[in-house]
Amino acid sequence: MHVPEIKTALPGPNARAIIERDRQFVSPSYTRDYPFVIARWQGAVVEDVDGNRFLDCAAGIAVNSTGVSHPEVVKAIADQAAKFIHMSGTDFYYEPQVRLAEGLASIAPIEGPVRTFFGNSGTEATEASLKLARYHTKRQNIIAFLGSFHGRSMGSMALTASKVIQRRGFGPLLPGVYHALYPDPYRSKGGADQCAAECLAFIKDQLFVQLVAPDEVAAIVVEPIQGEGGYVVPPKAFLQGRRELATEHGILLVVDEVQSGMGRTGKMFASEHFDLKADVVNIAKGIASGLPLGVTCARADVMAWPPGAHASTFGGNPVSCAAALATIRLLRDGMVKNAAAVGAHLMAGLKALAGKHPLIGDVRGRGLMIGVELVRDRQTKERAIEERDAIVSACFARGLLLLGAGKNSIRFSPPLVLTREQADTAIAIFDQALSEVAKSGR
Ligand SMILES: Cc1ncc(COP(=O)(O)O)c(C=O)c1O
Repeated sequence: MHVPEIKTALPGPNARAIIERDRQFVSPSYTRDYPFVIARWQGAVVEDVDGNRFLDCAAGIAVNSTGVSHPEVVKAIADQAAKFIHMSGTDFYYEPQVRLAEGLASIAPIEGPVRTFFGNSGTEATEASLKLARYHTKRQNIIAFLGSFHGRSMGSMALTASKVIQRRGFGPLLPGVYHALYPDPYRSKGGADQCAAECLAFIKDQLFVQLVAPDEVAAIVVEPIQGEGGYVVPPKAFLQGRRELATEHGILLVVDEVQSGMGRTGKMFASEHFDLKADVVNIAKGIASGLPLGVTCARADVMAWPPGAHASTFGGNPVSCAAALATIRLLRDGMVKNAAAVGAHLMAGLKALAGKHPLIGDVRGRGLMIGVELVRDRQTKERAIEERDAIVSACFARGLLLLGAGKNSIRFSPPLVLTREQADTAIAIFDQALSEVAKSGR
């Protein structure tokens, strides 16, 4: 199969007709970066409703970890659906949920016994962790980080500090949320160690001195690699510093692995790159290869709330649990390894492009979670925001699906089945798109 293969103008006639109907009846709050209308796909190849084939380096926002419709995941879903589709875990028991909780207890980056709460999405995982942190510590305040994304429901939105449009018009938000600085080694003048130290000092010397007493803080909620914020990889010392601070003050460390988890970084969880152990871990996106599932794993002694304290009718749906069990098996049987190997290859190829494209300011990431930051000038690091958008569009026109992240970065977050050859194709198209945009002077 030749991929990509673009046969029509984009969007093609069928895509245009669907987009027109969408405009009339679907909430306009969704951000559609380009007019892609899917018909079907397989692995890292997606076909639109006009028969155009694209290489997928977006994976439905880092969700389709095993590639879409992996036969083993499809079989697990069909087998479970044929037995029973729903039986609320709030009121009754079913084995797929127990088996998944057992599996998560063995892989979650948490020391000691682990329990899991089941929801349906990343934002629900965040909400569960907020409630749990307040319940367990009997404290109210939360520390999150600028640039972070933890969801869009009322509690998680108060933590999210990514784009103002996500908050504008929705206040007042959850009180007692304080935002600290997240280190950006590329933009720090003093390098990784210094920015880690500065970010830690901000909490210790400013937040805890001027704004909130540490013994009134329930949780520090942090992404081990910032996702929507631009695929920013912090120094290890930053995350370790948060761990020590939390332990010192009896604060729970909540690690948001919603985007960075489930093999994406070449390890099962990004925390493993930093030897980080959390008290609570939130997981969603890639966990069930595209079926809705969001879980909150916690130290068993922390997740000690009584029946009725928290629950969800659909959370941990048996079909989603079956998909997650198949996903974890596939990840363990080689896909995490593939993410590490093909991720290194993709990263090397993208770094090589920096030699000929001054627009590339930084290439960073782990495994198949790679961010490319675009700048107008490498000295001043002026953000190339319009150029970024133009490059994403130019890639789409050539048959490569990518997404932006942060103000001026592009993320490569393909399914973890991406091959070296497909990575080479992605690099070649990205190269052409960079040349086109640089030439157009945008
Ligand atoms: C790190 C992180 N946390 C939480 C969320 C929210 O997940 P959902 O969109 O499933 O609610 C996201 C979504 O992008 C995310 O990237």
